[in-house]
Amino acid sequence: MSVIAVIGGTGPQGTGLAYRFARGGHEVVLGSRSQERAVVAATELGERVGSATVRGAANDHAAKGADLVLLAVPYDGHDALVAELAPQLAGKVVISCVNPIGFDKRGPFGLDLGPTSAAEDAQRLLPDSTVVGAFHHLSAVSLNGDADLLDHEDVLVCGDDAEAKAAVIELAATVTGRPGVDAGALRLARQLEPLTAVLISINKRYKVRSGISVAGFDHSVSLPASGPVGTTVPAAG
Ligand SMILES: NC(=O)c1ccc[n+]([C@@H]2O[C@H](COP(=O)([O-])OP(=O)(O)OC[C@H]3O[C@@H](n4cnc5c(N)ncnc54)[C@H](OP(=O)(O)O)[C@@H]3O)[C@@H](O)[C@H]2O)c1
Repeated sequence: MSVIAVIGGTGPQGTGLAYRFARGGHEVVLGSRSQERAVVAATELGERVGSATVRGAANDHAAKGADLVLLAVPYDGHDALVAELAPQLAGKVVISCVNPIGFDKRGPFGLDLGPTSAAEDAQRLLPDSTVVGAFHHLSAVSLNGDADLLDHEDVLVCGDDAEAKAAVIELAATVTGRPGVDAGALRLARQLEPLTAVLISINKRYKVRSGISVAGFDHSVSLPASGPVGTTVPAAG
């Protein structure tokens, strides 16, 4: 079991994922720019989970004591906060669920970041950490809801380090009951992050809470032992 810090853990997404991680047996530290807000949020979550394995701390303290760190802050202000936390995040696996999304009269849309993504920006700002993208498409409402597991959804995981990605693929099972899906290299966060705008648009149109489930995929098949990312030769046909 790991100690997982959630940076921005007072928001709905951070709290919702923390709830799932804590139920999965992990020790969780909710981070905030204010220690006081973090402690309040952690007390509430601890009561809900019925366990003493939830704590609150200022973001830097939360990051420092953790094995795994989730970034759950808005894209606005993301770069400044991530750069500030670089020393505490060094040597750690950092998960980004950050979606750079805008809204205008026509609805939600993925921000045009050029040839990058929030997850890749985090990796650039954290050269001594290993960034993995995941949990972009799970709604905070579902995460904070009463369902035991979000077992109708898949967690798509992208990253350039096979070991870090495997840890996050396994962690996804605390949310959905099944391992996450290896979606490929970290640069695919450029496609995964804005895809959330499509889900939000569907939600508004149909008054639902849509998610991602990968068709034509057998979750019981485990991944072959992987070499460095990018060395696999695609099968012909
Ligand atoms: N909400 C969803 O359904 C959902 C679904 C998938 C992915 N996501 C992604 O998850 C992330 C968090 O979503 P959310 O809805 O929980 O966001 P949020 O409520 O807007 O923000 C989360 C927390 O981040 C901190 N924060 C806010 N502005 C900040 C800034 N400028 N700099 C540093 N910290 C700041 C705040 O905590 P303190 O004030 O306590 O520091 C806040 O409680 C976003 O990137 C979002 O795209 C959200």
